[in-house]
Amino acid sequence: MADIHFNKDQGSKLKLFTPGPVFVPEWVLKELSKPNDTHRSVPYQEMHKQAREGIQKLLYTENDCFIFTSSATGIMEACVRNLVNKDEKALFLSIGAFGDRWYEIGVKNGKNAIKEGVEWGKALKPEIVKDILSKDHYSAVFLQSNETSTGVYNPMEEIIPIIKDSGALVCVDTTSSIAGVKIEIDKLRIDVCLASVQKCLALPPGLAIASISQHALEKAEKVENRGFYFDFVYFKKKSNSNETPTTPPIPQIRALVAQLDYILNEEGIENRFIRHTRLGKRTRIWARDMNLEMFPEKGYESNTVSTMRNSINLDCGKMVNEMLSKGYRIVNGYGDLANKTFRIGHMGEITIKDLEEMLETLTDVISAQRLNKISTN
Ligand SMILES: Cc1ncc(COP(=O)(O)O)c(C=O)c1O
Repeated sequence: MADIHFNKDQGSKLKLFTPGPVFVPEWVLKELSKPNDTHRSVPYQEMHKQAREGIQKLLYTENDCFIFTSSATGIMEACVRNLVNKDEKALFLSIGAFGDRWYEIGVKNGKNAIKEGVEWGKALKPEIVKDILSKDHYSAVFLQSNETSTGVYNPMEEIIPIIKDSGALVCVDTTSSIAGVKIEIDKLRIDVCLASVQKCLALPPGLAIASISQHALEKAEKVENRGFYFDFVYFKKKSNSNETPTTPPIPQIRALVAQLDYILNEEGIENRFIRHTRLGKRTRIWARDMNLEMFPEKGYESNTVSTMRNSINLDCGKMVNEMLSKGYRIVNGYGDLANKTFRIGHMGEITIKDLEEMLETLTDVISAQRLNKISTN
């Protein structure tokens, strides 16, 4: 087993069907090992510019895009610190664990944070959002597109315009869907769209990206105590010269440029979205065939991570371990949902063939567990 997890010469041999970090392709690993100039050099600036422009294409935006040395949670905190003043109310629309986390960040940063949401497994529908917004005035609204704990994808095209019409700034955490699901930032007028790179972008963890609207930047200028490390105003100043305020993980940015080039110019962004849609559909068909109910309400299932209800009374922990011994990592349910649900990540560079092979193994593992149960009862 140790050889699968940690192989000194070859790294991990596990096939990751996780909601991140995910399998990193060979061409990305190669880029990571190349030498670089310093972050205060013209070659670096050229590379940074390519990353910025690539992210803009990926997000369908002309807004500036920043690169942060952190995971997504760092930018979630940055949004709260940069965009909410003391005398303002911030609304956190939560549909699961990561929505709850954003609210907690709001509270821990001393903001006037209000959490509203729906039962886990459900999505934010337009009428729910309208109703919530009719009760009060919020200066900023925070929400996930794809909630990784429940496997629900919110109807972004329907709810974002409602939030924008309320006059609030809108920040969207697209961590587990960016580069897997189309989201058109400028069309939807999203002020901040953020994500870490270890999910559908298939890069190693350690970097996060965000698009920032002019409106958000102007707001940040008026907010006190933005902190230093994640100050949007300082980021903008450095971004203008294709730099970051502090030393970034330069090899990661090189790899990001290569991966964006692959996505935009080799696979093709629309093809990538189609592939993720197919991966989602295929997993849901498999679940149906196995008599496993989906945890998300129908019509709002994620195409990057599938959360299945444990409707056939499996020992999910045992199933995950058995899959590990066969070289695959799938994951148990998130937090309190462990054993009540389990999750299959199908994001990044996973192909339909990879998925089919994994599902075949998983089917065998589940069948063996069920047979065993029958014979011991
Ligand atoms: C939707 C969502 N938001 C935020 C996070 C936190 O990301 P990170 O670990 O990169 O901070 C995750 C991680 O799984 C996530 O899925």
